[in-house]
Amino acid sequence: DKVILAYSGGLDTSIIIPWLKENYDYEVIAFCADVGQGDELEPVREKALKSGASKIYIEDLTEEFITDYIFKVLKAGAVYEKKYLLGTSFARPLMAKKMVEIAEKEGAVAICHGATGKGNDQVRFELGVKAFNPYLKIIAPWREWDIKSREDAIDYARAHGIEVPVSKEKIYSRDRNIWHISHEGGDLEDPAHEAQNNLYVLTVPPEEAPDKPCYVEIGFEQGIPVAINSQKMGPIQLLTELNRLGGANGVGITSLVENRLVGMKSRGVYETPGGTILYAAHEELERLTLDRRTLQFKEQMALKYAELVYDGNWFTKLREAMDAFVDETQKTVTGKVRVKLYKGSCEAVASESPYSLYLEDLATFGGDDIYSHKDAEGFINLFGIPLKVQAMLNRKIGAD
Ligand code: ARG
Ligand code: SIN
Repeated sequence: DKVILAYSGGLDTSIIIPWLKENYDYEVIAFCADVGQGDELEPVREKALKSGASKIYIEDLTEEFITDYIFKVLKAGAVYEKKYLLGTSFARPLMAKKMVEIAEKEGAVAICHGATGKGNDQVRFELGVKAFNPYLKIIAPWREWDIKSREDAIDYARAHGIEVPVSKEKIYSRDRNIWHISHEGGDLEDPAHEAQNNLYVLTVPPEEAPDKPCYVEIGFEQGIPVAINSQKMGPIQLLTELNRLGGANGVGITSLVENRLVGMKSRGVYETPGGTILYAAHEELERLTLDRRTLQFKEQMALKYAELVYDGNWFTKLREAMDAFVDETQKTVTGKVRVKLYKGSCEAVASESPYSLYLEDLATFGGDDIYSHKDAEGFINLFGIPLKVQAMLNRKIGAD
């Protein structure tokens, strides 16, 4: 029988290969998703085969990841617990979906992933698999084996002829793709301790960023970013460029104590340079083009959307229904936003749109034809009736 293993090339997923052969007697087929993590993937192919996999699929999913996952969440404006831009959360369902496709093509009976039993990722992988194929067996070695530490893993690797990286000790648990990099573990596990400046991978520490602001203008069509400084570009080029600009200006670093789905609080530090710029710009364009009711309703829904994505419920009716609502709202979210980047801050400072609902004539304190100051008096009288009635009662019963 065959098993499909989500493989990164790291030590942890490498030792899973002999472990699966030993404990399940499976033929192991590795799957490595390119989601813009920036690693060279050819060495990963060699490594998987040397570690005992019979075959490896390396698939470039970067563009699909951006257009079908990242941009949906961006349009929805979803942010988990006010800070986390969900970079790992929405990558897992895509990987799970691809693994099921490969499993079916290969006639595999099982799927295996290297997420631990204490985290969110196991949930996201497995819900993603179940959504497409309810009959595949799912194997999570971290919930089964006795390997507890990096030392155990190294011992196991040595005993099974797997190359152990000579590089320095692995301190952090990290996950990187074209949207973000996450950092957890090590000294970050103490929330009383501030992350050190040498942690960062995509971003210069804000205090080391240039002393003058950098402006970038982003063009949107129906909520989707399509241009930088009036130059049209595809999603990969656009996000790569914004990561570079954001990174150089210290933008998109956030540290938070978050609530994991499995119950505990954990401390994470994230770098989302380009994503932070896109959120700021997209939000501002919505302020210009959406009416108050729609905007407020959308803000409430974004909380639910973020929770659903965080929890791994990507492939659900509810997400599709929310996307349908979001896409309806995005029909007029077209225009340009200028964003100012300066030493870690990222502020949308100017915006324009052919669908702008902002009327300078109406907003101005000068005179105009649409708005009569006199109408305001009657409006306030009616709007204030409940308050007036309450105050009358308070006086009658002597309450204050
Ligand atoms: N805490 C974040 C989340 O749940 C990041 C997880 C990172 N995963 C990893 N395998 N390092 O989405
Ligand atoms: C893991 O446990 O594999 C990483 C952290 C998480 O999934 O939340």
